[in-house]
Amino acid sequence: MTLANTSRRYGSLSKFFHWSIALGILTLIPLGIIATDMAADTSAQLARKATLFSIHKTLGIAIFAIAVARILWALSQPKPAPLHPERKLETFAAETVHWLLYASLVIMPLSGWVHHAATDGFAPIWLIGQDLPFVPKDETLSAAASAVHSIFEKVLIVTLILHIAGALKHHVIDRDATLRRMLPGRTEAGTPAPHAVLAPFGGAVAVIALALGIGFATGAPLTETGASAPQLAQVQSDWEKQDGQIALTIRQFGKEVSGQFSDFTTEISYEDTPEPGTKGTVRVTVSIPSLTLGSVTDQAMGPDFFDAETHPTAVFDADILRTDDGLIAEGSLMIRDQSVPLSLPFDLTIEGETARMTGQLTLDRRDFGIGSQMDDPGQLGHDVQLDLSLTATRAAKQDLGA
Ligand code: HEM
Ligand code: HEM
Repeated sequence: MTLANTSRRYGSLSKFFHWSIALGILTLIPLGIIATDMAADTSAQLARKATLFSIHKTLGIAIFAIAVARILWALSQPKPAPLHPERKLETFAAETVHWLLYASLVIMPLSGWVHHAATDGFAPIWLIGQDLPFVPKDETLSAAASAVHSIFEKVLIVTLILHIAGALKHHVIDRDATLRRMLPGRTEAGTPAPHAVLAPFGGAVAVIALALGIGFATGAPLTETGASAPQLAQVQSDWEKQDGQIALTIRQFGKEVSGQFSDFTTEISYEDTPEPGTKGTVRVTVSIPSLTLGSVTDQAMGPDFFDAETHPTAVFDADILRTDDGLIAEGSLMIRDQSVPLSLPFDLTIEGETARMTGQLTLDRRDFGIGSQMDDPGQLGHDVQLDLSLTATRAAKQDLGA
């Protein structure tokens, strides 16, 4: 068995690389399509979808590693000569397809990996870390990489069909040694003869540029955040919200995923005096579809989770109490159709007419029926950590009661 290529034969290492990668690619494509099309309405479906994606990603990176080794090996080897260099168009097409297949072997896994690393959440890659050096967490970058992945899926499928059809045509119609030369054995064939080598490379570059151009021109917008949700109606309040944040952190497959609600309103009445007792009331209304939560934003809206279509808002209604331990908002939080008693201790500073509050809270998502079928905390943690902050200014008296 000879490892190296000659100008008339593929060596055993080239053949090993070719067929192991072929097997990997022909597994990854259906796996990616099935996992993408799989419903994720219930927690059980979501867990199945995540497992398929984890297999897809981990196998994709393994194939990438083999592809890099294959490319380095191919660069050091002679490429066996075409069997029919006189058929110029056919040779050009076959070699353009080879370049496109090599390009896909780099672009597909890299775009998938960047898509994964630039966002948070959903199916983890097994055995190795989730982040990539030099790839920032950026939803636009993640969406662009996802678009490249999906454009190259089409390029790869079309070139593979041409590639396999070409190999079969040589075997069945031409009855030549093209396919046998790639199969195990010692088949030698082809006569080294001068033929255009740069033109197929140029052809492949042109196809890649065209595919990216068409893909980006006709594709979906590159960001999918909760910002497009309908805005909540403005409310009147003694204290008017100027700025604030409702951030949440969950653990998914053992890794933290953070996000926030971009739209919420506050109705606050509050008069501070030093002695313990009730000092006012607060009502916070949160737009559920305004949540952005890494790559799991869409899943979080589903019927088994927030069920945003049926329950588009969450409401926290509370009295503000001064106790010996400090300020507490004591009331109830309604998410979906579950109302749960809640005490939120918070810090407050008032300077002039401006009040600033901060508070932290840990909730159990199961109290609200969120992901009730996803009981395993290894898949989705039960605890949801909330980080709250608000800056509000005292409304001018004449505005009140208008
Ligand atoms: C059932 C599937 C496949 C068949 C029957 C097949 C067949 C062949 C044959 C017969 C050759 C030799 C062509 C020649 O000498 O001119 C070849 C080369 C090649 N094939 Fe495939 N192939 C398959 C799948 C794939 C896949 C999935 C990829 C990668 C994505 C791939 C990438 C290549 C490349 C890049 C070459 C050029 C030779 C090299 O430099 O290694 N093939 N294939
Ligand atoms: C050669 C390697 C790979 C191939 C051939 C491949 C192929 C595919 C295919 C065919 C799809 C379905 C796309 C659709 O129907 O819209 C897909 C989706 C996907 N793949 Fe890959 N993939 C590869 C590597 C990777 C890697 C390494 C990752 C991540 C580490 C990854 C992450 C994804 C993700 C997240 C999707 C879902 C669609 C999206 O959001 O873009 N893939 N892949």
